[in-house]
Amino acid sequence: MPDTLPHPDVIVTRDGSRTLVSPADGEAYKSRAGALTEARQVYLEGSGVGARLRAGRATRVLEVGFGTGLNFLVTASLAAEHGAPLDYVAVELRPPPLERLAALGYERLLAPSPVPAALLAWRRTLGDPPAPGAHRFAHAPCRLTLLVADALARPFEGSFDAVYHDAFSPRANPPLWAAPFLHGLAARLEPGGRLVSFTVAGAVRRALTAAGLDARKVPGPEGGKREVLVAERPA
Ligand SMILES: C[S@@+](CC[C@H](N)C(=O)[O-])C[C@H]1O[C@@H](n2cnc3c(N)ncnc32)[C@H](O)[C@@H]1O
Repeated sequence: MPDTLPHPDVIVTRDGSRTLVSPADGEAYKSRAGALTEARQVYLEGSGVGARLRAGRATRVLEVGFGTGLNFLVTASLAAEHGAPLDYVAVELRPPPLERLAALGYERLLAPSPVPAALLAWRRTLGDPPAPGAHRFAHAPCRLTLLVADALARPFEGSFDAVYHDAFSPRANPPLWAAPFLHGLAARLEPGGRLVSFTVAGAVRRALTAAGLDARKVPGPEGGKREVLVAERPA
């Protein structure tokens, strides 16, 4: 079925990196204060994945809301640099159009990492938009399974060292922040694993605490949100 929604717009965020904005509700895919800064500080480092990859440890990540792929690209680029096996599963309901992804310039932003150009070349082979279902990308030592699907309709399988929950805000997307969905994500975490997000709403923290995680607010990236969320499954 053709996608009749208007295409997202490209914006430049305050750290100079680009992201997309949904014209329907003005929601940015990444922080207007800095897309790259958010990807690195909130997701890669806040989850503990950065430390694992630098130590060469095999790591599994689940992402809700693949969007532009920037969270994946910073994670996979670090994994490639350190030779750490990365198994990344991401779900995305509406992959952005290729032409908008190309306009983000992530191969220049993350140079000399070869992963952004390889990911874009792979996306070109999938069609635009990619068909619903599972699509696999490999760039040693990283593997990506991109599930083009509604996260609400797709039960996740397996266990993960980190969950990147990056599916717009609770205001824009309430079911993805409601207790049943959050409990499902929490159940996928290994002991010591962390779910991270830019959303610190009390209801979200309470739902994750009820799911057995130690949910707390931590300082956000400089110049961006004051606080972000880390919820850890006790080891
Ligand atoms: C904040 S953006 C993600 C940003 C992304 N992580 C990045 O690095 O660019 C939120 C994404 O969640 C996706 N999304 C919204 N509802 C969804 C759903 N029910 N299932 C899967 N993806 C969803 C949107 O299409 C959008 O791409």
